[in-house]
Amino acid sequence: MTTASSPVDERATQIAAGFPILQKPTSRGKRLVYLDSAASSQKPQIVIDALVDYYSSYNANIHRGVYEIAARATDAFEAARAKVARFVNAAESAEIIWTRNTTEAINLVSFSWGLANLHPGDVILTTQLEHHSNLVPWQLLAAKTGATLRFIEADDDGTLRLEHLDELLAGVKLLALSHISNTLGSIAPLDIIIPRAHAAGALVLVDGAQSVPHLPVDVQALDIDFLAVSGHKMCGPTGIGFLYAKRALLEAMPPFLTGGDMIKSVAYDSATFNEIPWKFEAGTSNIADAIALGVACDYLSSIGMAWIREHEIRITRYALERLRTLVPRGLEIYGPARAEDRGGVISFNFADIHAHDLASILDLEGVCVRAGHHCTMPLMDKMNWPATARASFYLYTTEADIDALIAALEKAAVVFKIA
Ligand SMILES: Cc1ncc(COP(=O)(O)O)c(C=O)c1O
Repeated sequence: MTTASSPVDERATQIAAGFPILQKPTSRGKRLVYLDSAASSQKPQIVIDALVDYYSSYNANIHRGVYEIAARATDAFEAARAKVARFVNAAESAEIIWTRNTTEAINLVSFSWGLANLHPGDVILTTQLEHHSNLVPWQLLAAKTGATLRFIEADDDGTLRLEHLDELLAGVKLLALSHISNTLGSIAPLDIIIPRAHAAGALVLVDGAQSVPHLPVDVQALDIDFLAVSGHKMCGPTGIGFLYAKRALLEAMPPFLTGGDMIKSVAYDSATFNEIPWKFEAGTSNIADAIALGVACDYLSSIGMAWIREHEIRITRYALERLRTLVPRGLEIYGPARAEDRGGVISFNFADIHAHDLASILDLEGVCVRAGHHCTMPLMDKMNWPATARASFYLYTTEADIDALIAALEKAAVVFKIA
């Protein structure tokens, strides 16, 4: 059981009570201290119930069935799309395309928009911070089209260097960048970058994998062209995510995958395509998980994204303060110094303990952190880190969780004889 360690995180403790996995001890009888929400969040009972309800009450394929449970499934599926649209303030639900995850959403843009619009000499601008999912698709697209890749440099704490942004934007057709770095936690100032990219004639794709679950993101206010998001990082199930894109872009883009449901009419030698959003949703969709992601959006909204952001700043500040007590013993903390300037993600290394060994020792204490390159190998090379350990937080993270992390690090110090 999670226990409140101070009045400020009482609400997080109450929230954690709605996540069944957080109430169960580990196989070693420890309290589960889940500090890996940047990899995948835990799921509240209400989301789990939505999956069970679909499969046990109205499981049927959507769009073509005329019988009652098929109509119910179709309504719930499309209502979930509308919930996601509201969650990111899209102008209409037709601008939300279901995908498996952020990676697939980015690939959709790369294959559909990219292959149709990029030519030799065009430039794709990205940053030195990107997750492989927002880098490799652009590398392949550049190789296929003759476009080139260019990078916005980042300081050692993950702050983007924007002093040469206007020069970097020359000739750029697409700027693809993550809103929050999954390795350093730094936050890209989209309100500054996007208008400048648009002024230079570039479209902007935002990798929202680490931001949309954690702070309010308004695609219209920020004037985002493409936004890629994973459901499993925002209390939803695995296997469902979405691409937001402006209607005019989606309408002009050719289909990505082809087959059933994405067509209007088919003859033996030709086909015409469905309207958006269905033009991009070939084959039977992930119905149950889409419905459950809609429930997750409602759940997060009911708590309030502004509260979640505030809570994460507070818990990150607490974690930074506690982790800094170990700095004299060799702990290195990466990313921006101030909690306000970062998401709830802290990468670190402890003396000469390999991050994997550290994560294994923490696991013995029930503390789950990630260790490795975090799918940002070029950034790890740039920083000269073989690996880092990473603790990441969410709405259910409490000060007691941070205290457990520190206690487990103290135990690791004993095991590795760190004075
Ligand atoms: C910034 C960022 N982009 C993209 C991804 C890929 O997400 P997914 O594996 O759900 O497609 C992740 C996952 O950790 C991420 O942190």
